[in-house]
Parts: sequence; C-alpha cells; structure tokens
Amino acid sequence: MRMMRMILLLTESVLVSYQSNSTVQCEKFRGKTVRVRAGESLYFPCPNTDCYEYTEDRSYDWLRNLSRMKQLERIGTEESERVHYHKSVLYILRLTLDDTGRYITRWYEEDNCDEYETDIVVYEEFNTDLLYYTVPEEKATTISCPVCEKQTGRFIWYKNFSLIPNQEFKNVLRIRNSSKESEGIYTCVCTWEHNGLKHNTSGHRRLIIKDQSRTNPPVFQIPVNNSIVTTDVGTELILVCSVVFVCDECCVRWERNKTTLNEEDGYKQENRIKDGNVQSFLNITKVSELDLLSEFRCKTEDSYRVIFVSITLRSRASMLPVILACICTFLLVLVLSGIVKWFSLDLVLFLREIFIKFSRKEDRKLYDAYVIYQRNNSDETTSKTVSDFVNGSLLTVLESYCGFKLFIHGRDDLPGEDCMNLIETKIQLSRRLIIILTPGTSSISPTAYDLQVGLHQALVQGETGVIVIQLGQMQDYTHLPLGLQHLLCKNNPLLWRDGQTSPTSRFWKRVRYRMPVASSHQRRSSKKRPLECQSLPV
Ligand SMILES: *[C@@H]1O[C@H](CO)[C@@H](O)[C@H](O)[C@H]1NC(C)=O
Ligand SMILES: *[C@@H]1O[C@H](CO)[C@@H](O)[C@H](O)[C@H]1NC(C)=O
Ligand SMILES: *[C@@H]1O[C@H](CO)[C@@H](O)[C@H](O)[C@H]1NC(C)=O
Repeated sequence: MRMMRMILLLTESVLVSYQSNSTVQCEKFRGKTVRVRAGESLYFPCPNTDCYEYTEDRSYDWLRNLSRMKQLERIGTEESERVHYHKSVLYILRLTLDDTGRYITRWYEEDNCDEYETDIVVYEEFNTDLLYYTVPEEKATTISCPVCEKQTGRFIWYKNFSLIPNQEFKNVLRIRNSSKESEGIYTCVCTWEHNGLKHNTSGHRRLIIKDQSRTNPPVFQIPVNNSIVTTDVGTELILVCSVVFVCDECCVRWERNKTTLNEEDGYKQENRIKDGNVQSFLNITKVSELDLLSEFRCKTEDSYRVIFVSITLRSRASMLPVILACICTFLLVLVLSGIVKWFSLDLVLFLREIFIKFSRKEDRKLYDAYVIYQRNNSDETTSKTVSDFVNGSLLTVLESYCGFKLFIHGRDDLPGEDCMNLIETKIQLSRRLIIILTPGTSSISPTAYDLQVGLHQALVQGETGVIVIQLGQMQDYTHLPLGLQHLLCKNNPLLWRDGQTSPTSRFWKRVRYRMPVASSHQRRSSKKRPLECQSLPV
C-alpha cells in the first residue's frame, strides 16, 4: 500500500517535472479580458471550450504574471490556497486588487500544448468598464446573466442597483412588456459553493431598447427587384448589388434558391464598403444550366428585418422569342391604331346611325344646313364649278342620299320675299352653315349679307356649327373676312375635287361627320335613301 503510494507520487512528480521542463513549444492564443470586483470570487474556466471540457487524459498548468510582481508565478492545486486550480478551472476566491495580472493556461495533450492568455482586472468598486452590453433591440423579453455561465448557482437580480422583487432566482431574467423604461443597468449576483463555502460573482449588463422610428431599413440601389439578367451558359457573370445602410453591423450576401453560395462551387462574393454604402459583387465563374432556372437573391438584414432583391438569369437565346413577340405586338398596335384612325370617321357615322334615336334633341330648327356661296361670279368657269357643285353633288349626297334638309338661296326662297329678313330667319332655323369658298380672285364678297349674318351667328352667338368647303386650291385666305379666317384657323376647310360624287367618298364622309345627326323626320320621308348612309360603308 505504502509502496503503491510512493510509486504514484514518484510518477506524478516525474510527470510534473517532465511537463514543466518540457521542451514542448506551446501554441499561444490571446483570450479576452475579464473584469471582476474585489471581495467577490472568480470561477474561471479555461477560455477554450475544448480545453475546458476534455479533461480526460489531459494535463494543465496555470501560471500568472501579476502586475506588481512582473514575473511568472506557478499556481498550485492546493484547495486551501485562496488561488488554486482544479484541472481546467481556476479559482480565485475573495479577489483582491493585487490579483490583477495576466493568467496563463497550458493545456497538454501528449506532445501538443495550447497556451491561453487572459488578463484579469480587479476593480475596487462598480465601474462602467464592468458593463456587458446587449445588442439594442426593439423588444427585450429576457436578460441573461453574463457571469456564472458554466457553474450552477442561485441568482439574484438588481435593476439600477435596487433589488427586483418576485424573481425566479435563475440565470435569465424575464422582462414583461419591455419599453424605453426597461432600459438600465441590470446586475445579477450569482452565489455558488466551493468546498462548503458560499461565494459571490456579479455581472452587470446594460439594456438598450431600440427606438424603431429612428432606424431606417437598408435601401437597395441596384439591382431592380425581380429584374432579369441575360447571359449565356458557360460564360462568366458578375452580379452587382448596392445597398445603403444606416446600421454598422449589417452585412450583404448572395443566395441562389435560398441557399448561401460558396467559393468552392464557383461563386465568389466580394463586399466593398464605403460611406455607408455596401457594394456586393457575386462572381459566377461559369454560368450553368441550373443558374438559368434559379432565383438569385441579394440579401441583407439589420437587427430586426431581413430584406432582399431577386434577380433571375435568362439565356440570350431564350430572350429572342420574347423580343420578337414584343416587336410584333408593337407593330400590331401601330397597324391597329392606324386602322382605327383611318376608319374613325366611318365608325362615328356608323355609331351615329345606331344611336340616332337617343342623341337626337328637339331644337326647333327647320333646316340641317344653310348653304352660303357666291352667286354672281364674274368668272364664268368658277360660276359653273360652284353651281355644278351646289346643284350637283351637294344636293344629291346630302339631300337625296342622306336625307338632310338644306336651305339654298335661289332655290328655296320665294320671289318677292324680304331678302334680309328671310336670310336672318333661315340662318337662325339652320343647324349648320355650309360656306363654299371658290378659288381665284372672284372669291366670296366680304360684304355678302348672308355671310355676315352667318358668321355673326356662328362666332358671336356660338349657336351654329360651320362647315367650310373649298372648291379647288387657294394660295391663302388673307382676302377673306376676318371672322372666316378665324374659323379656318381652327378647322381646315374640306377640299373638294372634281369627281368626288359618291356619298361613300372620304370627302363626303367628312362632311357628313360635321353635319348634325340626320333628322328622323327627314329620314322617314325619304324612304328611297340607299343603305350607305345608315351603316358602315366599305
Ligand atoms: C510579466 O509582465 C510584464 C509586463 O506586465 C512583462 O514586462 C514581463 O516580461 C512579464 N514576464 C514574463 C515572464 O512573461
Ligand atoms: C453574496 O451576495 C448576497 C446578496 O447580494 C449577500 O447577501 C451575501 O452576503 C454575499 N455573500 C458573500 C460571501 O459575499
Ligand atoms: C422584392 O420582391 C419580392 C417579391 O417578388 C418581395 O418579397 C421583396 O420584399 C422585394 N424586395 C424589396 C426590397 O422590395
């Protein structure tokens, strides 16, 4: 028994000496700084999780270089010591300010050694350096204790250094209905036991509730959401995404069909950050068939939302039919609008026939139009043209075919009637004024009485519509009365050429278009009227 003990002791000391004098070079790692309060105790696990957890067949050395000593000091395992270690855990009980310094953990596994350095700073009183922060959130439901993460203990919570009543003594504090008022410093005091003695470790955490109204979401500048990029299979493609941020922690990344892309598969991502603007480049080394059917997303998030824009890839070849279809549609629309424009007259005339009963208003007029033309021409050819037109096509088309009732001077006035009186009355009883202009010097005399009355009626009283028909070409209209010139500015005259005698000719359609809706009374009386005036003539 005694022998056994001796051997054990011997091997242990050999082991220790082997380790301490070992020429094994340790790989060094810098750990974080641990800040603690004097008077409390520290349970300090090895800063590396594996080093802390895998203690089987491993050995440890703990050393420290205290600020005041400036030399390395070996820490022992004796439990009666205030500072000692037990494998992967260092205990510093009832901390004093002198415990401030660099602590070194060596973790041996056969010929390997890892070394972790941690600075421990002891504060006499509470100091804001001791604070842990929570990432600002809009709503906080819990606060976790930043200390005593790896040991069991009983927790007491304080808010702004006063005890919180009705708590559950857990390492997580529940917060109900968090608001701006919930902000503050939360302190947890963890009481744990070591060798039958109770020890305290406290942690302080500042809670910040985020003001939602002040934070703007990240904004995508490019690409346009749901846009299409054309490319070819096998080529290299670079997609660019640009986001404007207000937050610092936001990052931008690319996804294909909701899976993150990595470099090994030929997708290289690169982010460039400048003045709150992040540009993310996705370099697709070789576009595959699969890429063409996929949705690429440029994705980003701040602390409370995830946003993204989508891009789909299309092969150039598959775009050709789409482009062709677009061109065809465009041409079709062009042709259709041309047709509509060309046939709009016919369409209006056709619809007029259909809706004639509804659109007809009783206006107590007797004539559809009063015809004004130069009766005493000095020039014989002009005189013949005018009378041929008036007594020929005008009468045939408008009266016989379409059933309009016209008043024509010389035909409809009775001999002996008071001329001026007659003109005024008849013009008042007419719905339209048809003014016939003749070319050459022998134009309508500006003093013609019916023209004066008619223009007055049309321009001043605005009651009568005017249709100006021009027989043959004219240089200009400066010799005409001002009122007529004004009318001609608003509406071009209808130019009549010899031979346009058919009611279905464009000229007569335009005249009919400007004429009032043919009176139903007239229509009934002229039973022989051909169909052309009723339905769409082709
Ligand atoms: C201990 O720390 C001091 C500085 O704090 C440093 O100058 C000294 O070299 C360290 N000693 C060892 C053995 O690492
Ligand atoms: C531990 O903290 C509790 C509550 O803050 C206190 O009542 C107790 O005395 C402390 N114990 C030690 C050993 O400091
Ligand atoms: C882009 O469009 C998708 C739907 O197609 C939408 O879910 C997403 O929110 C849009 N992204 C942005 C930034 O508007």
